[in-house]
Amino acid sequence: MPGLFLSLEGIDGSGKSTQGRLLADRLRAEGHAVTLTREPGGSPGAEEIRRLVLEGATDRWSAETEILLFTAARRDHLEKTIRPALARGEVVITDRFADSTRIFQGVTRGDLSEMVDRLHALMIEVEPDLTLLFDLDPTVGLARATARPGTELRFEDMGLDFQQKARAGFLALAARQDRFRVIDADAAPEAVATRVWQEVAPRLSERAARS
Ligand code: TYD
Repeated sequence: MPGLFLSLEGIDGSGKSTQGRLLADRLRAEGHAVTLTREPGGSPGAEEIRRLVLEGATDRWSAETEILLFTAARRDHLEKTIRPALARGEVVITDRFADSTRIFQGVTRGDLSEMVDRLHALMIEVEPDLTLLFDLDPTVGLARATARPGTELRFEDMGLDFQQKARAGFLALAARQDRFRVIDADAAPEAVATRVWQEVAPRLSERAARS
């Protein structure tokens, strides 16, 4: 695919959504076509699934059922939004992708990694070219996340221990895979954005050199 596929990951409140917007603005200012999208969601069908998984009681779904719902949403997002944008040669920035399922469903509530990986291999397969992991102490992240207005708090309601497991899981995954870069998210947004650009700019040059 001619495009560039970037994903942003991290615990709740890590600031990745703000960084996604800043990155998209900068890329557009430099003349790149950008699709900024998010999971769960990013296509009309997947946005409907988003409401099912992010609202309501923490015990509304088991981790196994969540794996199916998040993967169904991802498949639709891939078919309707991500693949077409990459085929047009755009930079796709997604706020969360498969690593979120690997962590939030695969490791935070028992070991369901094998189930997540098998379903990913069957239904999704693709991985981003680059994944930025915004790393932050969960006490800071949860305070930021729960201060926001809104009703999408099902995962925040799972508590600090859950977020701590998620942080450790993300860091362990990042250490195993070359496509990850870990970014310290406990800094001013402009400083974090500068770090993000240091990681993204070389990818743009590589892509330009290939075409
Ligand atoms: P998000 O909208 O990124 O929330 P925030 O902006 O607060 O970080 O993600 C919503 C929640 O969905 C988040 O708590 C993590 C959860 N999630 C999963 O558990 N599995 C997944 O596969 C995805 C994509 C998200």
